[in-house]
Amino acid sequence: MAYLQPDKEGKVYLPAISAAKERGEKLICLTAYDYPTARIVDEAGVDMILVGDSIGNVIHGYGNTIPVSIDEILSACIAVKRGTERAMVVCDMPFGTYHISENESVKNALRLMKYGGAEAVKLEGGRNRVDLVRRLVDEEIPVVAHIGLTPQSVYKMGGYRVQGRTAEQAKRLIEDAKLLEEAGAFAIVLELVPREVAAMITEEISISTIGIGAGAECDIQVLVLHDLVGMTFGRQPRFVRQYANLRQVMTEAIQSWTADVKSGAYPSVEESYGLTEETKKEMGAS
Ligand code: KIV
Repeated sequence: MAYLQPDKEGKVYLPAISAAKERGEKLICLTAYDYPTARIVDEAGVDMILVGDSIGNVIHGYGNTIPVSIDEILSACIAVKRGTERAMVVCDMPFGTYHISENESVKNALRLMKYGGAEAVKLEGGRNRVDLVRRLVDEEIPVVAHIGLTPQSVYKMGGYRVQGRTAEQAKRLIEDAKLLEEAGAFAIVLELVPREVAAMITEEISISTIGIGAGAECDIQVLVLHDLVGMTFGRQPRFVRQYANLRQVMTEAIQSWTADVKSGAYPSVEESYGLTEETKKEMGAS
């Protein structure tokens, strides 16, 4: 079982994340939701893999993250953990899994760690989550916080918009970041906030910021893997830079195979199995 193997050299745990911030070295985080993509992402050298609740949009086609269940993310986390040797595996706590009581939140976070193999959990919210973050950290659960655009608040916000644009909102974000640091979070995702605000937060706190649509100054950059490689649908936000078009590569591969099947070019003799000459003789086959 993977958990019993000794760690690969350079396995990323919390100290490596804070040491990188101290050195001023930027780290990389990508999402993954299954074994093959976790392997590819890990072997490419990414430092942190997020089993994001973006699984709701990217894999399940829900349209947002609200319906994602603990069982769905747990199953994804198990697969990602099996495919990961070096990167730190962080698992999102889905909407509804940390909202009812501290005890239930701890239970759900422990489930993600004990059965999913998560090495840290991520949850959304600012000052309203400070007590919960403190409790989780007290229970030895490493926590990544998430402020700015928090997709689990989509119905309250009425859409996905840049957060912290006014001085008052920006100050509130900075305060939230400081409170979360003080509560014991070891990193904070800053999603869709002006780059100046992200830079101030990154400067003013000693834990790492993980930016998505938050400018270049964050300590760690994160993207949704499927956006990066062109496997998502619809209009992309401006911060997405697509480095490959796997959707096109896959479509072309499927179309080429279809054409080969229809023309009889697939499968060839080499791609199928035959009888031995002896058996053929016995059966009177040519
Ligand atoms: O679920 C997710 O993929 C995330 C990232 C956008 C940070 O929370």
